[in-house]
Amino acid sequence: MNIVITGASSGLGLHTAQALARHGHRVIAGARSFTEEREDLGFFCATLDVTDQASIEHFHQKAIAYAGQIDAVVHCAGILMLGSCEETTPEEYLHIMDTDFLGMVRVNQAFLPDMRAQHAGRIVMFSSINGLLGIPFQSAYTAAKHAVEGYAECLQMETKPFGISICLVEPGDHRSGSEAYRHHTSGMKADSPYRHAFTLGTRVIRYDENHGSDPDRLGEKVAKLLERRRMPFRVRIASADQHLAVVLHDILPPSLNNRILSSYYLKPGKKNR
Ligand SMILES: NC(=O)c1ccc[n+]([C@@H]2O[C@H](COP(=O)([O-])OP(=O)(O)OC[C@H]3O[C@@H](n4cnc5c(N)ncnc54)[C@H](OP(=O)(O)O)[C@@H]3O)[C@@H](O)[C@H]2O)c1
Repeated sequence: MNIVITGASSGLGLHTAQALARHGHRVIAGARSFTEEREDLGFFCATLDVTDQASIEHFHQKAIAYAGQIDAVVHCAGILMLGSCEETTPEEYLHIMDTDFLGMVRVNQAFLPDMRAQHAGRIVMFSSINGLLGIPFQSAYTAAKHAVEGYAECLQMETKPFGISICLVEPGDHRSGSEAYRHHTSGMKADSPYRHAFTLGTRVIRYDENHGSDPDRLGEKVAKLLERRRMPFRVRIASADQHLAVVLHDILPPSLNNRILSSYYLKPGKKNR
């Protein structure tokens, strides 16, 4: 298959691109830091900023010129913003939505006409466990991933008649993310009333990522997903306790569920605190 992948310069995107290349697919990878075209990573890399329409159009042309036809698009580009709901600025919310949600919308709009014309195409969108439940101090990211989840449901219904299938990949914590994409809100000052809880919460978030699942295994799973005759619409790739958190979120009363999550993230004396 000829597969476009965004956000492939690091983390889960890079591991997935490597797995796809190992499986013999022709990979066209995009990220801002691929400032020059290169193939030394084992696949074709070209510059792509998913927040910039002109960059997407240029990347789309490069991908078509390189591969002729695109069979699948995998969306991995994403950034995280850590901060309280009160202090994360509207501009920061916009920036996260622009990258994590609208980035996917724009890239899909570039490739959907080709997929419709060839009456075939596969789109894999990286959501997150945060697309299903909220985690304190990750509201911008959580909102963007919830947007991705809702958008994907609409997209699947609209494009199925054209032979296009959609898959939401919902990773739990993986040992892969780069600190460069884990911004802290500029709105939080030293004397913030949220400072203590924020410090506790972000320690748990960092600990869970550092002790998360193997990114190579996730890459392999995504490659195998794309090779299935039919892709499932939702695939959660997470540890047993993160699976359980989602199940509990769906069945417990919200107040009890919020107490459990708050206690996990915000009570001192756990993990490496
Ligand atoms: N790591 C985890 O535990 C985890 C858990 C759940 C979900 N996810 C999801 O998995 C995906 C990858 O996350 P990660 O943590 O593994 O990756 P990461 O190491 O944080 O890398 C993020 C990637 O996104 C790219 N990117 C950021 N802004 C971009 C833009 N405007 N245009 C194009 N590319 C952009 C970066 O490349 P450049 O800076 O070069 O552009 C980089 O390749 C994300 O969608 C994330 O939400 C990750």
